[in-house]
Amino acid sequence: MLPTTYKDDADRFNTMKVRPDDVWVIAVPRSGSTWTQELVWLLKNDLDYDKASKSILEDRYIFIGLRQLTNTELRAILTERRPSVMEAFENAPSPRFIKSHFPLSLMPENLVDIAKVVYVARDPRDVAVSSYHFMKLMKNDIGNFKLFWNLFIQDLLLYTPFFAHLKEAWALRHHPNMLFIFYEELSKDLPSCVKRMATFLGKEVTDEQVVKLCEHLNIDNFRKNESVNQTWLTGRVGDPDAESFIRKGKSGGWREHFDEEMTEQAQQWMRENLSDCDLRFPDVDY
Ligand code: A3P
Repeated sequence: MLPTTYKDDADRFNTMKVRPDDVWVIAVPRSGSTWTQELVWLLKNDLDYDKASKSILEDRYIFIGLRQLTNTELRAILTERRPSVMEAFENAPSPRFIKSHFPLSLMPENLVDIAKVVYVARDPRDVAVSSYHFMKLMKNDIGNFKLFWNLFIQDLLLYTPFFAHLKEAWALRHHPNMLFIFYEELSKDLPSCVKRMATFLGKEVTDEQVVKLCEHLNIDNFRKNESVNQTWLTGRVGDPDAESFIRKGKSGGWREHFDEEMTEQAQQWMRENLSDCDLRFPDVDY
């Protein structure tokens, strides 16, 4: 599900010139992409916290799909900051950091054979809850959560169908250029994920560096960190009464929003969609 503006750019997306030292972060929105972007960027930039703090993530990453955002205000502000994504993509010095919410099938065909790709996945129930709150933050009139959830599982929301998005990346999880990581893994054991990510990116980190990085990435610090918390953007367009962009950061928080009927419906929907593959979301202690 994409807006028609996708058609105008589709060919360009397919033929974008990928560089071997690119790092791409790909995820369905609200799956932990911002968190992962900061982690990836810091590891690749030898933990230069000073440089990171001086530049917002939007300036450090090129956002493929910006023109396809459906929230006009959000798109306008991001476009004001970066008028041409394609120009930025072509001219950015190496190594480039690129983020997208498009599934891999809409990316250049050979992407994973050339560049490193980090794919972040998250339990769809938490993704739906998180997306719902983000919609509210962006003042989209979307009705109640039950309605939103039903649109989500009927593949009527932006970037759906959800499982097709994940499965395309899951199929490539053993590719040496692909790191498939779950939000639930980041939540449960961030230090191990940092080490895994460092190895993937060809970087060495000491135990002390891992501790410091995890502290930096801790949601309480992240929420206060203006280079990642998007206040520069939400301060202009966001509903001040809604929950912030960096919200609860909890795995399994969906339980507070699902009634019995939705819980059952979700289980069945997940069972059906996972019956043809071995993708499973990590267990979470609620
Ligand atoms: P919640 O709304 O469930 O809290 P994305 O960056 O892909 O849009 O994902 C946003 C989700 O990641 C939000 O989930 C947000 O709170 C969570 N998140 C962002 N930074 C985080 C962090 N440092 N630790 C844990 N969760 C984080």
